[in-house]
Amino acid sequence: MIEAIVLKKEYKRGGEAFPAVNGVSFHIGRGEFVCITGRSGSGKSTLLNMLAGMMSPTSGDIVFHDRRYSPDGMVTEGRKYSSMTDRELSALRSAKIGYIMQGMCVFSNFTVLQNVSLPHFFNKFHSDPEGRARFLLEQVGIPHLARQYPTSLSGGEIRRVSVARALFNSPELLIADEPTSDLDGETASGIMNLFESIVNQGTSILMVTHNREEASHGSRRYEMNSGVLESARDA
Ligand SMILES: Nc1ncnc2c1ncn2[C@@H]1O[C@H](COP(=O)(O)OP(=O)(O)OP(=O)(O)O)[C@@H](O)[C@H]1O
Ligand SMILES: [Mg+2]
Repeated sequence: MIEAIVLKKEYKRGGEAFPAVNGVSFHIGRGEFVCITGRSGSGKSTLLNMLAGMMSPTSGDIVFHDRRYSPDGMVTEGRKYSSMTDRELSALRSAKIGYIMQGMCVFSNFTVLQNVSLPHFFNKFHSDPEGRARFLLEQVGIPHLARQYPTSLSGGEIRRVSVARALFNSPELLIADEPTSDLDGETASGIMNLFESIVNQGTSILMVTHNREEASHGSRRYEMNSGVLESARDA
């Protein structure tokens, strides 16, 4: 599904470069649920930003293994991010990848419903985008907030709007950066159940979490330490 090849990202701070992600290689297969834990500042969000195609690495590459129909049947084709134009990468991202970013990421002058159906402006996958958005709001437990604006929502409700938006196009890969960080236990386990059901339908998930219980949902677990990805000790 997606493969990281010796990925490295250097940032500059105080004039000196330091590697936030330092040579990460791994692969996520179709329908796998992979979890990453790790201390604050260890490079998790930086890694996810690169995998989601939002940030380019200093060195290394990412390959997205895509399935498509050809005259000979279904074929898998690997495409390197480094060989794609910005436009091709954006098209891949909006069609195949759902990204729940860390922090608040909604548009305050759009309603909840408009925020969730935003991917429709880039890809017309659904004949009834409003119906799709309402279905997802139901799934994340906030159907009654469809017409509200984000400024009147709690942090956990906004988080659920971004979960619903990331699922709008039924992505092949869902990348989630601490998706339950503002949620109470019951709502968080509702989101985890939703993630398990989409994994069972063949979606791959890469999730960063600080919660050990949630990390145990993963079929594979890693720990990020100072920019290096290691198999989790309890995996
Ligand atoms: N744009 C930037 N410029 C310089 N340094 C940055 C930038 N973004 C992040 N960093 C630094 O890179 C390191 C990794 O940051 P990152 O956000 O990837 O960590 P994280 O593991 O996601 O942490 P958290 O668990 O707190 O979200 C940190 O030391 C951070 O301060
Ligand atoms: Mg982070």
